[in-house]
Amino acid sequence: MTGHDASGHLHVSAESKAPYAADVLATLREDAAAVVARYPVKRSALLPLLHLVQSVDGYVTGRGIEFCAEVLDLTTAEVSGVATFYTQYKRHPNGDYTIGVCTNTLCAIMGGDAIWDAVSEHLGIGHDETTSDGKITLERVECNAACDYAPVVMTNWEFFDNQTPESTIRLADDLRAGKDVRPTRGADKVCTFKEVSRVLAGFHDGRADEGPAAGPASLLGLKIAQERGWTAPVPPASAAPAPAAESAAKKGASK
Ligand code: FES
Repeated sequence: MTGHDASGHLHVSAESKAPYAADVLATLREDAAAVVARYPVKRSALLPLLHLVQSVDGYVTGRGIEFCAEVLDLTTAEVSGVATFYTQYKRHPNGDYTIGVCTNTLCAIMGGDAIWDAVSEHLGIGHDETTSDGKITLERVECNAACDYAPVVMTNWEFFDNQTPESTIRLADDLRAGKDVRPTRGADKVCTFKEVSRVLAGFHDGRADEGPAAGPASLLGLKIAQERGWTAPVPPASAAPAPAAESAAKKGASK
């Protein structure tokens, strides 16, 4: 495990630095080549490759950073800079399931703070900490653009809408007990952190079309607009950039 001691020094697990087994490395290289082939510039493949590393190691290990740097001709410092910028990349072992309680403004006042307090106390862990059985990592998360279902809880980025302290504790207990858990929307069941990381690396698991996507609360505005014959205003022709000006603007933006 990676963690901080009382002095604040970071301890990195031996596994994080140990070389990959030959068969694991061979598969990683094959998968990485498939990811890199999707981009005109190979360094653009860094984000999915970091997810690929997480799908194997469960977090972004030191050896994973070295692997990405080598494959993409980057320095390990450049890869680390990206891996530490985004919260979806974990720099220490993560649980099988990340439970993210939204404590942004709307969810917080609708009960998110109460959910956080109850689940944190029930599991005995705080933000970015993992239960001793390695099953659950708990996080406070920012707005998930699901405020119409506040308070919202995410599990490995699947939506659990209109939650309560009791329902979220039940969710955590079911996940720890190894039960299949169905999100409110999206896939039929919550997959593990490693499984989801592989999907985020770009390897589809065939679940994209499972379950409902947008729910009634999200579609209410559209329904009202359709009933009343409302349409989005069309911008006047003078507001649209001429093709030549648009092309010049794009060139300028890419400099
Ligand atoms: S504030 Fe929680 S989803 Fe927007």
